[in-house]
Amino acid sequence: MSPRTTAPEDQYTAAPFVPEGADLAALREAAADCRGCPLHRDATQTVFGAGNTHARVMLVGEQPGDQEDRQGRPFVGPAGKLLDRALAEAGIDPGEAYVTNAVKHFKFTRSEPRKRRIHKAPSLREMTACGPWLAAELALVEPELIVVLGATAGKALLGSSFRVGEVRGTVLEREIHGRAERLVPTVHPSSVLRAQDDEDRKAAYQGLVSDLKVAARALG
Ligand code: URA
Repeated sequence: MSPRTTAPEDQYTAAPFVPEGADLAALREAAADCRGCPLHRDATQTVFGAGNTHARVMLVGEQPGDQEDRQGRPFVGPAGKLLDRALAEAGIDPGEAYVTNAVKHFKFTRSEPRKRRIHKAPSLREMTACGPWLAAELALVEPELIVVLGATAGKALLGSSFRVGEVRGTVLEREIHGRAERLVPTVHPSSVLRAQDDEDRKAAYQGLVSDLKVAARALG
């Protein structure tokens, strides 16, 4: 009998794929070949962080969506457009930020009969596996402030007990991957888009803007 080999994705860690001493461009290139968890199999491509590499603010979302998976850039779909509008309204220039996700591959199921790709939330195991990429991005960008967009980003950065409703719109100070970080959690922009009706959507959007204003003030 031949010895059983373990595929890298079965080990659920991106660590072996993250080059030491790399700059962001080299990290992005290496991330394109990541097989640190099984999500790479069905996704079109790795969606690495993008934006100003010396940004004062880093925005962390959940995972790429359908559009991001096709285009290879974070937050280019409907949630990203809403986020850009909310950031600008709060006084943060979206073009000055670095934007990334806790998980770098799109996780989805297919719906019958049109076989549309439906977003599926990443598991804690997948988030943890992808963590070394986020840690490397944080170490290189060294943002003054991290805006945490929703529960997945919160769990990836602050631990599995994170609840966005308990801390949204506040400035948290935590040690993350050996660095003292300031973070402002808020809801994920997709949750605004999912609101039941116009009135709820308006209120959810105003809540997001108001949390982002806390981030803008913390940046000074
Ligand atoms: N939602 C996210 O969390 N990230 C993206 O890049 C797009 C949608």
